[in-house]
This record gives sequence, C-alpha cells and structure tokens, in this order.
Amino acid sequence: MTILAPIHAVLARTGLDAVILVPGANFRRVFRKDFHQMERPLEVIVPRDGTPVAIVPNLEMGSFAPIGFPGEVFDWRDETGYMDAFMAAGAALPQLRDGARIGVEGQRMRVFDLLALQKALPGAVFVDAHAEISAIRLHKLPEEIELQRKAIRLSEAALEDTLREIRVGMSETEIESLLLRNLFAHGADGLAFAPIVAAGDNAAKPHAHARADYRIKPGDALLFDFGGSCQGYSADITRTFFVKEVSDFDRAFYETVLAANAKGREVSRAGITASDVDDAVQKVLETSQFAAFRRHKTGHGLGLDIHEAPQIMRGNRQLLEPGMVFTIEPGLYRDGEAGVRIEDDVVVTESGIECLTSFPRDLRLVG
Ligand code: GLY
Ligand code: MN
Ligand code: MN
Repeated sequence: MTILAPIHAVLARTGLDAVILVPGANFRRVFRKDFHQMERPLEVIVPRDGTPVAIVPNLEMGSFAPIGFPGEVFDWRDETGYMDAFMAAGAALPQLRDGARIGVEGQRMRVFDLLALQKALPGAVFVDAHAEISAIRLHKLPEEIELQRKAIRLSEAALEDTLREIRVGMSETEIESLLLRNLFAHGADGLAFAPIVAAGDNAAKPHAHARADYRIKPGDALLFDFGGSCQGYSADITRTFFVKEVSDFDRAFYETVLAANAKGREVSRAGITASDVDDAVQKVLETSQFAAFRRHKTGHGLGLDIHEAPQIMRGNRQLLEPGMVFTIEPGLYRDGEAGVRIEDDVVVTESGIECLTSFPRDLRLVG
C-alpha cells in the first residue's frame, strides 16, 4: 500500500481520471507534512493509471524530498518561473488530455493554479471534487483524536489561567495576549486561528477581532473563541463569561444558549443526521424569547481544517458515524449589546458521543 492509497480510493469511488492536491488539510493528511499555500504553486497530480507527478517550488525540495512521494517531480526556480514545470508535467501525463476528468479541491485550489493546469493539460475537464477528496478526513484515526484531546486539554488549562488574571479595565488585546502566552506555556505548538476575545458589543459579532481601545467593564459579556494546536490538530472552544455582574436579562440569554448546547450534546449519536442535530438545537433557540438573535448553524467538523465536514446544519443528510469530530456551538447575538456562544468539541462513538471539551459551562463571573 502506498502513501497515495487514500487518493486511489477516491479515484475508485468517483471514477475520476485523476485527483490534484494542493497544500492544505488533505495534502497534510496524505503526506503527514504541511506546506505553505503561497504565491509559488505546488501541485500533486495522481492519475488513476500511470505514474503520479508533482510540481514543486525548488526552495521546498528539502522538505518535499523526505515525504516519500512515489512519482516524478518537476521542480522550478523563482528566476525561471513555474510554467515550464507545468508543461513538462503535462507532457508526462498524456492520458490526462482530451476529455479526462480531473478532480480538484475547489475550496483550496486558486485560479492561477487552475489556469496553469488547463494550459498544461489541454482538453482535460476539471471538476470540483472538494467534498469527495476531503472525505478521506471524515473519520478520525485514534491517533488524530488523541492529538485533538491534547490540544483541548492544554487550551482549557490556558483559559483557566487567563480567567484568573483578568481585571476590570483590561483591554481585549491585553486579555488576548495573556491567552496566547498561556496557550504556548501549556504546550501548544500552533493556533487553530487568531483567538477571538470580545467584550460587550463586540461579543455580538460572531467573528470579532480583539480591540486595543476597549476596556472591559462590569456587566460586559466576555467571549473567548480559541484553540491551541498540536501537530495540526486543534481545539475550537467558546466560552462566554460576564464581568463582575450579570443582569437577569443576560442570565436568561445565557441560559437559553446553554440549553441549546446541552440539547446538541444530548441528541448527537451515530445513525442520526447532521440535520437532526441542528434541528434539535435550533428549536431550543427558536422557541425561546430570543429567537430573533440567532445567526448561524450549530457547528462544523473539526480536524486538520477548523471548519470541515460534517457541517452540522439543517438540510445536511450526512449520517453521523463513529470517529466523526464536530463542534456544538449555538450562539445568540444582540447587535450593539452582547453575544453569547458556548462551543464544545465532540467525537461520535459506537454508543453516543464523547464530549472532548470539559471546561465548565455554568455562568461564571470574572474580573
Ligand atoms: N462560529 C460560528 C460559525 O462560524 O458558524
Ligand atoms: Mn470556535
Ligand atoms: Mn467552531
């Protein structure tokens, strides 16, 4: 079995004549190595029949050579440009011209990659096979789940340390810098994404940026959405706190989100659909007095990509199966006032789910 066995399985399942990978989560899952997606194109072309071909920027050869690519490599240098390498790769793949159907990662491949490939493989038909290719990551291996567990454990420890350091009057960016320091102190080797630390009205924006000029004050909601990583596998956790005090209205707002989160964890299990989970969660929000403040679906798959399949969304008939990891993250957002989101990461098991996140969810005052 070669390193390309998962891609050969995609070719067999889909009937495609070839699959092309560019740097990203699928590439990393296959080759166990991450490459930058930058201005220098890097492509791996895996035909159903014949020898695979890679087009690699010369400065990356020191990293590419050890991955054990079982095919022909065409490298190119900055001073000559990449087009000759594309044309040489195309000449080595005569079976991929004239009507061959080639699957590409529609959410990763850039326009300039595609234009160069179209020139190198005239007559080939390029189709978006993002979902079919990414399905190689839908069921996590035990070692992948173990890395996620590690990332979650250290992230939760970092959050607890951060909460103890928070004081009224700190800015969102000051709090963010504490969180970052604590994540790396607890052993993170990277970040899932730039953390969201958002207080007051900023918490009403689901994907807010921390502000240097806003200082937290009593009564503010204070939302953290963040995650440390371990070897590419990440936590994606949201907890919302209140600074010093909370109004009865905000408490009811919070408890509604918490009830929706609990419902999601309660209903999730193998054999139901992603749509069923979102439906159960949304109904809690829709039947509350806060229905008007909904903004998004329940969650998303979590792995080498932070937002990947399965999307936990009404209409997604994907059956949940053991080994799938996804988030349950209902939220409510009152524009200009406050927002609350509570996000957990769960893995589907034979008998239900295991909630990988364990940071307490009861309403907590900080500062
Ligand atoms: N964090 C909410 C969403 O992206 O759907
Ligand atoms: Mn999140
Ligand atoms: Mn998330």
